[in-house]
Amino acid sequence: MAKRILETLHKRPVDRPPFWFMRQAGRYLPEYRQIRETAPNFLEFCYSPEKALEVTLQPLRRYRMDAAILFSDILVVPDALGQDVQFRQGEGPVLEPIRDAVGLDALDPAGIDKVLDPVIDAVGRISAALDDETALIGFAGAPWTVALYMVEGRGGTEGTEVRTWAARDPEGFQKLIDILCDATIRYLNRQVDAGAELLQLFDSWAGLLGEEQFMRWVVEPNRRIVEGVRAAHPDVPIIGFPRNAGVLYETFVRETGVDGVSLDHTVPLQWAADVLQPVCAVQGNLDNHMLLVGGEAMERAVMQILDVLGHGPFIFNLGHGILPPTPPENVGRVAELIRAGR
Ligand code: CP3
Repeated sequence: MAKRILETLHKRPVDRPPFWFMRQAGRYLPEYRQIRETAPNFLEFCYSPEKALEVTLQPLRRYRMDAAILFSDILVVPDALGQDVQFRQGEGPVLEPIRDAVGLDALDPAGIDKVLDPVIDAVGRISAALDDETALIGFAGAPWTVALYMVEGRGGTEGTEVRTWAARDPEGFQKLIDILCDATIRYLNRQVDAGAELLQLFDSWAGLLGEEQFMRWVVEPNRRIVEGVRAAHPDVPIIGFPRNAGVLYETFVRETGVDGVSLDHTVPLQWAADVLQPVCAVQGNLDNHMLLVGGEAMERAVMQILDVLGHGPFIFNLGHGILPPTPPENVGRVAELIRAGR
């Protein structure tokens, strides 16, 4: 049987909507926490192909999603470029911030392949381990979102440093975006060569920008990456995720040429069905907090999404990643509802 998620992204009919969950491998699973403890730090964990393979497969054993997502992180790209990146317990990522041309000069785009080799190795192993119904998703962060971490030095901010750099010195900041576009195209093409069957570009901080800045720093880089991947791999579907972009989601899907778009939980369902689904497949958008709540409230939210978006090309997912305190049985219940078709 053809893989449902690929059929959907090619706008062909399927027997039921395919599903997977952002952060389906993660701390909400006890078996993940157990393997995570065996790695000295999070980046070493990402660069261990055997461990990455194992944690990629863990959620599939429980819930039989229609797709596996490579276990890695968007911040392996700045690490591969030579920036100091650390993940600290309870603090999230911490980077040595880049704020100017001197910081940019220290980056080494020629060195990325070697650092990322173990990730590509993991892709090959995962690809070989999957059955013929389960697709493999490769991914990268989109340039704006990766640049935000590179410039701020951490997450959880309003992005003041990166937004002021981009507005004050657009030509200077463009150099960082260009480095990231080129590195990302190269990295994604290698993932496809190793067995990734579709790709997702995470632009988690797209919603910080006004229209003009959104066009330059979100739409244009995503468009270039789509073009750069298609030049080497014309048939590999690409899903964009300009999180919290509001009505700019429409411009995003029209201008980037993505095959699918991942919706955050604030996007109104009927608007997405009317405006986005005629252009491309949509993915989403259950509020990840519903998985903390469970019960009838969660079930009602799932049905509503299936009712409104289930008629066009649609992939069930969350609006953002699974949260660590999520009870695993709630994930199982959602999987059951989708498989039953309601
Ligand atoms: O299962 C999957 O979804 C695949 C693996 C994956 C991870 N990160 C693993 C991870 C993917 C696709 C990502 C993407 C990612 N990473 C994004 C884009 C999506 C989003 O969530 O907005 C971003 C912004 C990051 C950067 C990042 N990585 C942050 C801010 C953090 C700290 C916050 C946190 O959840 O801990 C991480 C760490 C991280 N990446 C973890 C996992 C499973 C948890 C770290 C741990 O296990 O110690």
